[in-house]
Amino acid sequence: MSGALIPSGVVTVAYIGAIVLFILALGGLSNPETARRGNVYGMTGMGLALLVTVFGVVTDNYMLLIVALVIGAIIGLTLAKRVQMTQMPELVAILHSLVGMAAVFVGFASFSDTSVHFTGVEKTIHDIEIYIGILIGAVTFSGSVIAFGKLSGKISGNAMLLPARHWLNLGLLLITIWIGSSFVEQSAAGGGTLSLLSMTAIALAFGVHMVMAIGGADMPVVVSMLNSYSGWAASATGFMLSNDLLIVTGALVGSSGAILSFIMCRAMNRKFLAVIAGGFGTTSGSASSGGGEDQGEAVQIDAVATAELMKNAKEVMIIPGYGMAVAQAQHIVHEITRKLRDRGVNVRFGIHPVAGRMPGHMNVLLAEARVPYDIVFEMDEINDDFPDVDVSVIIGANDIVNPSALTDPDSPIAGMPVLECWKGGTTIVLKRSMATGYAGVQNPLFFLDNTQMLFGDARESLDKVLGDL
Ligand code: TAP
Repeated sequence: MSGALIPSGVVTVAYIGAIVLFILALGGLSNPETARRGNVYGMTGMGLALLVTVFGVVTDNYMLLIVALVIGAIIGLTLAKRVQMTQMPELVAILHSLVGMAAVFVGFASFSDTSVHFTGVEKTIHDIEIYIGILIGAVTFSGSVIAFGKLSGKISGNAMLLPARHWLNLGLLLITIWIGSSFVEQSAAGGGTLSLLSMTAIALAFGVHMVMAIGGADMPVVVSMLNSYSGWAASATGFMLSNDLLIVTGALVGSSGAILSFIMCRAMNRKFLAVIAGGFGTTSGSASSGGGEDQGEAVQIDAVATAELMKNAKEVMIIPGYGMAVAQAQHIVHEITRKLRDRGVNVRFGIHPVAGRMPGHMNVLLAEARVPYDIVFEMDEINDDFPDVDVSVIIGANDIVNPSALTDPDSPIAGMPVLECWKGGTTIVLKRSMATGYAGVQNPLFFLDNTQMLFGDARESLDKVLGDL
């Protein structure tokens, strides 16, 4: 079978429609209330884009394409069905790696394609597109694989710092530029494969080095940065394939990921460039920061006393963290919230921008449990209110309520704003043990006079609290 089945005019109109749907999707995803609609726009746009590309742009090899589509769809569906909510971040990371890998493969295929003949400036531009596309793709691929390893715990979350790493990065950048200029010259003379392969190897090594050097608590920035890179990799692929939709869609993902990274950096009080150059969350010997010395004894509380405290409070602040996702406690949290609100207790939620393991993680869980949006507040909105809070209930959170971020300049999380729950009446921390959180830092909050620990799986503990309410 040969020749496109849909005329090119229809393809252009459909592409514009898909782009509009993607923009609407991004708009929708900016708010939990409209996120579901945003997803529907995105899925519709992608469905339309796939359909017109397969039947309107491709002119040959339909069987091969359809077999690949079916295999891809089966893998995607299986992954989506099997993945636990707590594994979402690593799934996203590994999916980013696929975008990077695709850019690398398309780059090499484009370079070896003998049916396309560019000359003069056009050839130079095409070669530069290929070079940049493979470069971004390879960095995205290896960086995302390492991020996957770190997020899933297969690789240590600690930063691996090579000596003179900034010089090393600068050196790699200069070598890449030099190889690039010789690649363009060699390609004009019919060569260039070796240069392309050398650059790919360097880019892969750079991706590994960049993400390995990021300390635990700064992973959120890396996740959103790789999201951005995957967009630029897709955009570069669009240039190589002369596909306008891919260029625009990639640019949308690239720029929204960059904006998200910037927002994450601001939320964590980090400088964007410093995070990507590595070195934050890396202070030597700081994993025990705030916890190496004897901090006294943590006081325990049981579920009955917890329920009693919450019942008698006027203001309750619930701070969810990664442990709520692990325990899948969000539905019970909502039940408890309803019971307390029925009794006239003002219950609010305080959400840290990097709580959990992916941007908006807690918002998604609370929305799933149908917690009303108007009682869910961002950290900046409620951090000043803690002195008026009677009881703060920390559900499986740790780093995001660690006072040492503000008091210990040597801490790996130093400078990161945290929810200052200790300024309120009583803080109850629900977790299973005294173990540290993602950044590997002990938490002095647990040893404060007004803190009490409710040990156990968060869902089981809250079940008992609910029973007592
Ligand atoms: P963490 O600091 O990781 O603390 C979570 C706590 O939950 C742990 O200390 C753990 O203690 C407890 N926990 C685990 N399972 C539990 C269960 N079933 N029941 C009760 N407690 C349980 O989480 P956080 O406070 O949400 O902070 C997020 C951290 O992840 C930050 O360091 C952030 O930088 C990093 N991070 C965030 C992202 C994004 S984008 N949000 C991405 C990557 C990394 P026990 O083991 O004692 O129970």
